Amino acid sequence: MEEAVRKLLDLASKGIAESRDDRRALEQLKVRLLGRKGELAALFKNLGKVSEADRPLVGKILNDAKVSLEKMLAEALEESREQSIRRRKRFDVTVPGRMPLRGRLHPITQTALEISRIFNWLGFETVEGPEVELDYYNFEALNMPKDHPARDMQDTFYVSEDVVLRTHTSPLQVRVMEKRRPPIRVIAPGRTYRCDSDVTHTPMFHQVEGLMVGEDISFGDLKGILTIFVHQMFGPDVDLRFRPSFFPFTEPSAEVDIRCVMCRGGGCRVCSQTGWLEILGSGMVDPEVFKMVGYDPETVTGFAFGMGIERIAMLKFGIDDLRLFFENDLRFLMQF
Ligand code: DAH
Repeated sequence: MEEAVRKLLDLASKGIAESRDDRRALEQLKVRLLGRKGELAALFKNLGKVSEADRPLVGKILNDAKVSLEKMLAEALEESREQSIRRRKRFDVTVPGRMPLRGRLHPITQTALEISRIFNWLGFETVEGPEVELDYYNFEALNMPKDHPARDMQDTFYVSEDVVLRTHTSPLQVRVMEKRRPPIRVIAPGRTYRCDSDVTHTPMFHQVEGLMVGEDISFGDLKGILTIFVHQMFGPDVDLRFRPSFFPFTEPSAEVDIRCVMCRGGGCRVCSQTGWLEILGSGMVDPEVFKMVGYDPETVTGFAFGMGIERIAMLKFGIDDLRLFFENDLRFLMQF
């Protein structure tokens, strides 16, 4: 009998060693050894055949075997349970995480905010105005009466005889000056509309208007402020030049060019081999405009400027196709 018990214990430790991590195999082993019809039960059955004198001793041997079998199996099962928990917890910390898709600002918005940020830092306040605008603010008060030839330059969307979709952000100059007295320093970003659509024009686009008015504002201030802006926006090494121009609402007027950011002045397709890129229009506010808002042009001077945000964004980010801004292709937008 002792021999049989020893065999049983051997069997148990071998079985446990073989199926250490295998919970189901351990359960089966348990049934086979300790079950009601299992091997230990079979030995207990033989107890009847043992002589009465030996029976207590044999009984004790069997009981001890039962206790140690139960203990061995319980430990093995517990071990395998902990193993599987450990396995589930183990993970590779070097595997790249799954990033949630994050929304972000459109490059045009980013550029508008950057322009505003630079001028805010220079003391300009950001203001906004209506996109559906009176003819008066869009043209008339900017020194472009009804028959003025300059109106033809801007293919206007007319809502009615006196109402247009603003063709530029310049009407903000008039709206702000009507409401306030100098000194004035404002910057006005927003949407603008022209009946024009080809590879380099979209019917809706964005501009930023700037206006500085006070008692002693000179063309030198205009040059200084716009030079600081260009260096903040495109970097301190970018050259710029002021080129004489004409606008009905400024006199004198100048357009600002920057050294081509693509070829650095050598000449390329983007700058049409000139080495320069036009980025904005500007000038000293015309006395006629001051009169329209009731300012005395003898005591008040100022300058204004206007620029296209798409153009600034294209130069800043090196984008060569205007249409990309309006297609909302995530592969494009996610790069900003
Ligand atoms: N409004 C002009 C345009 O749309 C740009 C402009 C030129 C604005 C000169 C100004 C300025 O304020 O002084 O092309």
